[in-house]
Formats: sequence, structure tokens, C-alpha cells
Amino acid sequence: MSITDEGEYGQKQIDFLELVWGEGFLSPGGSAEVDLVLEGLDLKGLHILDIGCGCGGAAFHLLRAHGAASVTGIDIEPLVITRASALAEKYQLTDQARFEVVTPGPLPFPDGQFDMVFSKDAFLHIPDKETLMQDVARVLKPDGMIAASDWMRLDDGPLSEQLRDYIAAEGLDMHMCSLQRYEKALASAGFGHIQLTDRNAWYLALAQNEHASMTTSPLRDQIVDCIGEEEADHTAAIWQKMIGVLKIGEHRPGHFRGTLTNASQN
Ligand SMILES: C[S@@+](CC[C@H](N)C(=O)[O-])C[C@H]1O[C@@H](n2cnc3c(N)ncnc32)[C@H](O)[C@@H]1O
Repeated sequence: MSITDEGEYGQKQIDFLELVWGEGFLSPGGSAEVDLVLEGLDLKGLHILDIGCGCGGAAFHLLRAHGAASVTGIDIEPLVITRASALAEKYQLTDQARFEVVTPGPLPFPDGQFDMVFSKDAFLHIPDKETLMQDVARVLKPDGMIAASDWMRLDDGPLSEQLRDYIAAEGLDMHMCSLQRYEKALASAGFGHIQLTDRNAWYLALAQNEHASMTTSPLRDQIVDCIGEEEADHTAAIWQKMIGVLKIGEHRPGHFRGTLTNASQN
């Protein structure tokens, strides 16, 4: 039994991840990590597309702390969009934050609609990074930019047994690639000024702290209340496997960004 048995981001998975990672977040690091993805960028007045927005934690932060004009969050899971929309109501951000369920595939927007594409730890679920980056470039205005975080891996060779075992335990459709594959995909989609940041060491330390909190009171009790004892044990075991692949350096969370250059835009 697993909390993903009811779907990849079902209600139990959402409730559990928000307990570990904070209200509105289905990925680690909260607002501070979003700030690092965007470090040095001026978002004031920008219209931003958040791909794989989950429950909207990052989108709200782009609006409240970075002065974005609007954020359109898209996700393939109806339950996360329901949760994001409820949080938008709670934070009185419904004028600026719009959330939509989409189907996997081409982005359902006309060319040149957004100033920026943002994404936090969602591209790992999309296998074809090259087509994705071409489509990201298409929906951006000339000189638009992408700033993203993702869960990556050391290289693009065959998965080690340990990484395969971790991914199987997660029960999620995960297509992690190297930071270098993103670099190439960005360049061939017309992005320049590409910057890459490896976050393996940061997440290794944080994941160890997360595991310690998840297995002791009060978080352990809250998790048991939320998903039951058996699944609380199962999720702690998944974290141990994740820490293992972080330790051997195969699982490498990271950030990347780039700006469309007129010379190379499609
Ligand atoms: C790890 S969660 C991160 C959510 C959010 N960005 C955050 O940081 O809290 C990954 C999200 O990507 C979404 N997702 C998976 N495949 C997708 C696709 N093809 N297009 C858009 N979203 C997708 C999942 O439903 C999930 O909500």
C-alpha cells in the first residue's frame, strides 16, 4: 500500500507533503528556495506561467514577495488545482492568481503570452525536455525568461539499481535528467545567458533533517493522524532511500535559468 495508490498527487499525498513542506508546497525548501531560484531577478509587473504549480505555494510567493503582476498556474492534477484555488481565496489573491487543469502535452497558450516561465520540481514528470523547452520558448515574449528548479540526476546514462529502487518506492512517474541536458535543450530552444545551479548538498542536508522530523513528535504524530501509521512508516522509508541516492550523488536537485535572445528565438 502506498499514498500514491489513489493517484500521483491524490488527497493523502497532498496532505502529507504539505505537512512536511508547508502550506501550498509540494516540494522542498518553501519560499526561501523559491527566492534562490529567482535570485537577482526583478519580477515586478511580470505575467508569469507556473508549470506544474501544485497547490500554488510558489505562485503566491511570486505575487506577494516579488511583485509579479499575475501568475497562471497549470497542473495536470485536478485536486492540486482545487487546493491552489482554495488557497488563492484564503489569501485574497484570486484577481492575480489563476489556476487551470491541463492535459499533458503542448502548453495551451498562444505564442508570446508570458514574460516569464517559472517551475518548481515539476519538469521531472515530463519526459521530453527538448520539446518542453521549445514550447516554453514559444509561449514567452521576445526576451522572456525561464527560471526553474527540478529534480535531476548526475548523468543521462542507465539508472543505477539504487536509483531505480528509490523511484519505484516513490510510485511517481519520474523522468529525471542531467543539468547538462537542460543546458542543451535551453540553448537549442533559443535561450541564452544560461545559468545552472546544483543543489545536491543543500537537499541532502535538508532531507536528513526532514527525515528526523518526520520520525519524531510532533510531526510524526501529525503524519500518522493524516495518513495512518503504516503509510507514515512507508513514507519515512522512501525518505531513507532518497537520502541514499542524494548521498551517492545520483539524485541532484538543481536550478536553471535562461533568457530568450532575439538572434536565436524560433
Ligand atoms: C513535486 S510537485 C511540485 C508542485 C509545485 N511546483 C511545488 O513546488 O509545490 C510536481 C507537480 O507537477 C505536476 N505535473 C506533473 N506532470 C505535469 C505536466 N505534464 N504538466 C503540468 N504539471 C505536471 C504534478 O501534478 C505536481 O503537482
